[in-house]
Amino acid sequence: MTLALAAHASNDAQMNQFIGNLMSRMTLQEKLGQLNLQVTGEIVTGTTLSGEVVSQIEQGRVGGLFNLKGTERIRQLQEVAVKKSRLGIPLIFGMDVIHGYETVFPIPLAMSMSWDMEAISRSARIAAVEATADGICWTFSPMVDVCRDPRWGRMSEGAGEDSHLGAEICRAMVEGYQGQDLTDRTTMMACVKHFALYGGAEAGRDYNPADMSHVRMFNEFFPPYLAGVEAGAGSFMASFNTVDYIPATANRWLLTDVLRDRWNFDGFVVSDYSGIIEMTNHGIGDLQQVSARALNAGTDMDMMSYGYVNTLEQSLAEGKVSMKAIDQACRRILEAKYKLGLFDDPYRYLDPKRAKKEIYTDAHRAEARRLAAETFVLLKNDAHLLPLARLGKIALVGPMANTRTNMPGTWSVAATPDRYSTLLEAMERATAGNAEVHYAKGCNVCYDAELEKNSTMFGHEMRDPRDAAEMRDEAVRLAQQCDVVVAAMGEPSEMSGEGSSRSQLGILDAQRDLLEALLKTGKPIVLLNFAGRATVMNWEVEHLSTILNVWFGGSEAADAICDVLFGNTAPSGKLTVTMPRNEGQIPIHYNHLNTGRPNSKWFTKYTSNYLDVPNDPLFPFGYGLSYTTFSYSPITLSGTTMSRSGNLQASVTVTNSGAVAGTEVVQLYLRDLVGSISRPVQELKDFARITLQPGESRTVTFTITPEKLKFYNADLVYDCEPGEFEVMVGGDSRNVQRLKFTLE
Ligand code: BGC
Repeated sequence: MTLALAAHASNDAQMNQFIGNLMSRMTLQEKLGQLNLQVTGEIVTGTTLSGEVVSQIEQGRVGGLFNLKGTERIRQLQEVAVKKSRLGIPLIFGMDVIHGYETVFPIPLAMSMSWDMEAISRSARIAAVEATADGICWTFSPMVDVCRDPRWGRMSEGAGEDSHLGAEICRAMVEGYQGQDLTDRTTMMACVKHFALYGGAEAGRDYNPADMSHVRMFNEFFPPYLAGVEAGAGSFMASFNTVDYIPATANRWLLTDVLRDRWNFDGFVVSDYSGIIEMTNHGIGDLQQVSARALNAGTDMDMMSYGYVNTLEQSLAEGKVSMKAIDQACRRILEAKYKLGLFDDPYRYLDPKRAKKEIYTDAHRAEARRLAAETFVLLKNDAHLLPLARLGKIALVGPMANTRTNMPGTWSVAATPDRYSTLLEAMERATAGNAEVHYAKGCNVCYDAELEKNSTMFGHEMRDPRDAAEMRDEAVRLAQQCDVVVAAMGEPSEMSGEGSSRSQLGILDAQRDLLEALLKTGKPIVLLNFAGRATVMNWEVEHLSTILNVWFGGSEAADAICDVLFGNTAPSGKLTVTMPRNEGQIPIHYNHLNTGRPNSKWFTKYTSNYLDVPNDPLFPFGYGLSYTTFSYSPITLSGTTMSRSGNLQASVTVTNSGAVAGTEVVQLYLRDLVGSISRPVQELKDFARITLQPGESRTVTFTITPEKLKFYNADLVYDCEPGEFEVMVGGDSRNVQRLKFTLE
């Protein structure tokens, strides 16, 4: 046994003994209390604590609280638990710290476009430093649901459509949040969510069932969750959707057979918000029945259903659940508290001095700004309009040009938007003394006021009461007087995220009309597209020369956009979602299976295609331009055969063939040409992010290992099969060079 392992074992032994002792003194009600997680609402009145939750805590009926902000308020409640409840068990405080805390990083979908694992991990690290400085020790992140359907609003919260990239990002984030040691006061416990398949929601409608073969689950949707287990994530969250017709929250195959028995997960599982009581709507029982089913399936903690705390006692008496199952869930939650060091010091995350010093610091903001600039994807720059010169007059128009609250993006619970810049402010700063920036809003988000209201809730309202024609004319007049137009358009932040599915994914009507009117002025136009998902933009691609997708870049988004707009940094983001030509192509993803009648042309009768749209997307997975160009040498392979214990090297030399420095993401894809089951036409297996000065070359070498060739077969056995493989290397999934080798 190594020293580290021995230390671990003795820590475990101490923990088991401590928790064993504690549990021997707990009543059934106190055990059930540990399984109960709730939000507080506003419970602090002056210095007096009021409300139902306080008496619940005193009675030991609450195990944790979430989405409460500020050390003072958290301390007050922790004191109730520690000083007033019979056993003084500390509460665990959770929060949706999804992409940063007060320093907000880009939305997770955007972060994935950077393909920058170190920066993503650092973003999680910084989020942990800030959140723990403010009393939070548990985050409901990372969200790792693979998604191939941009109608689903929560595509914004994940890493896109690819499971390999998703797994890498999950690992990076869990490591960033948890660090090496959970008792460290600057680390917090991660919660991998939403287990499982939440991103597979039928028709892209939130909370809908996800129904797919187990082969697809294991090969294409599960890898990021498994990566979370391997990275040591302390907790998992069950998803709202059904899997095989059973809600995930009560799905024993998922939560026990796969998660615990197959993957050896040893943390705890929390339900999603009211996920237990919602199973009554799924039609699998009343609150008592669904609570018992959830516990028996492996859901340890009940978020906001009050099903465990109120019904499990009766279920125990009726033999519907066992004491063993209750004890096990309780033990797992106490273990999490122990691992976080809460039994040593319940106030360890409640140092007000840290809150003042460590939140929204210059260093954190600089990091967020850098990462945001890496996430933008340059879709088109035909006229080399970008980067813009800091010269003359710039017309800034569009509904996203002068809004502060919409910059951070969905799920920014701890954001303090008053301190963040609008794009207008940042552009004025970036051009001061050189160019003039003039602003006209030009249009609202869309003509339909109701749709706009539903897409800009939670303090993000932005509707202008003026008449549409009046607003448009004002912007057109402004454009006529300026040299170039920057159109800040797209979705406001609540148009993606939870409960924000869309059936039509184009640029909205009022914004499209404004673009048409602006085009008629003949002035060059740069479209900045704000989005939490893939946008359908054929018309824009056909009519505009310049499109930069900026997603939602977080608290420093506005400055980061200027960094790229004016060329301090060349864009380097690459799409992690396929951009469809229209909604009818959805679900669309690059790593699909072949059909018996494939068709790469459009149209041939009796082949797999549409009458009215080609099969290929508008922009493929992995795509994104720079301000420079990269040339690729022919790829080489170190051999044409590989043994099951060997490996091969695939190499390519990439040269920056343009005039400015730039970063390229070199991508390795593989295809298993003959297998016991049909295999995808290509799968991302590796990538390298390299920065090159003009004229500089670098050779990138990928090692192809047997591990990269493995997949789950029809019996869900994970292995590689001998035969021929194709290697593809390139700057996006479509634009690749190919070679073959044989696995012996
Ligand atoms: C979401 C989760 C989130 C939870 C707690 C739910 O509605 O699905 O992702 O962590 O709320 O706020």
